[in-house]
Amino acid sequence: MKILTAILSANLACCLFSVAAAETPIKHTSFRPGEIWTDNNGAHINAHGGGILYDKGTYYWYGEHKVEGDAGNYAQVGVHCYSSKDLYNWKDEGIALKVVEGDHSHPIAKGCILERPKVVYNKKTGKYVMWFHLELKGKGYGSAYAGVATAAKPTGPFKFLKAGRVNPGKWPLNMDKKDQTTEFTKEMPDYVRIIRRDYPGGQMSRDMTIFVDDNGKAYHIYSSEGNITLHIAELTPDYTGHTGKYVRAFINRYMEAPAICKHKGKYYLIASGCTGWAPNAARSAVAKNIAGPWMELKNPCVGPKAGITFGGQSTFILPVQGKPGKFIFMADIWRPKNAIDGRYLWLPMKWEGDQIILEWKDEWTLDDL
Ligand code: DGJ
Repeated sequence: MKILTAILSANLACCLFSVAAAETPIKHTSFRPGEIWTDNNGAHINAHGGGILYDKGTYYWYGEHKVEGDAGNYAQVGVHCYSSKDLYNWKDEGIALKVVEGDHSHPIAKGCILERPKVVYNKKTGKYVMWFHLELKGKGYGSAYAGVATAAKPTGPFKFLKAGRVNPGKWPLNMDKKDQTTEFTKEMPDYVRIIRRDYPGGQMSRDMTIFVDDNGKAYHIYSSEGNITLHIAELTPDYTGHTGKYVRAFINRYMEAPAICKHKGKYYLIASGCTGWAPNAARSAVAKNIAGPWMELKNPCVGPKAGITFGGQSTFILPVQGKPGKFIFMADIWRPKNAIDGRYLWLPMKWEGDQIILEWKDEWTLDDL
């Protein structure tokens, strides 16, 4: 009997211990690019193509929730949100924007493509505003829409407002006046044909980011004209629409994955080339005004695998709170065959003159900034 009691209590202790162990999240104290990053439940963080909002002492990380297999490249769930005080340890806050089930015609119907969500806070309305790249269900990448949703709290729930092409009936501010007609001619250059074609319904909008300037003005920066060009478009004061003012930048440079920051009064951009899910060499650029002119710089990555952004693709540049002038470059290592296994690649940013420098690190901390 004594032996039986001893065995039972040992088993009980073992069970209690394993429950306690499962409930104690690992305390992270560094960034390890490319490895599995676990949340407070021990699950791999599921927030791809994401961006981060800092709000009242907390960072909120929003990204595409992916599922297993290549079905994970389509939105089966929505936009996942995590919160953190220190950028190393992330609490699962659940799905901030859910895709719509049971209505295939809804713009964010389950199975649509919903990528690169970015959330900003609007001081005037007190609302959290999420923008994302949207491709309607069953139409591949042909829709080229931008979608917007708002919430009263950073963790959501976000309510879908609208989606569509951008700035219908508006010409780019930096398009020659003589080209601003809807006439189709044999001689017109390709880009003029695309802009004229899309003028009535709005310009194409795919990979994107949102940038809020010091004066509170927000901008939507997105790959347009079949990814030939980036557009930089001003948002309305409530951040939920476009004012009609936009410029074309990086003409014929086929850039995707734009990320922007402001450092020492200048605007810096990191973006990728256009090779689907496969990594390519990052681009960088600087401007005194967000609307340009932009001057392209070199590939910011240096050292081994610099030619493929260390296997990643940019998604966001995070200003670190309490460390003025310090930024984190955030990128995704995509795993399109098993989308949920995509990894995060964050690296400290350095500048040499105007040139951004990104060096690979197996492990680093905020002290390395
Ligand atoms: C590259 C983009 O940056 C991603 O967001 C995604 O749209 C893939 N292309 C799809 O191939």
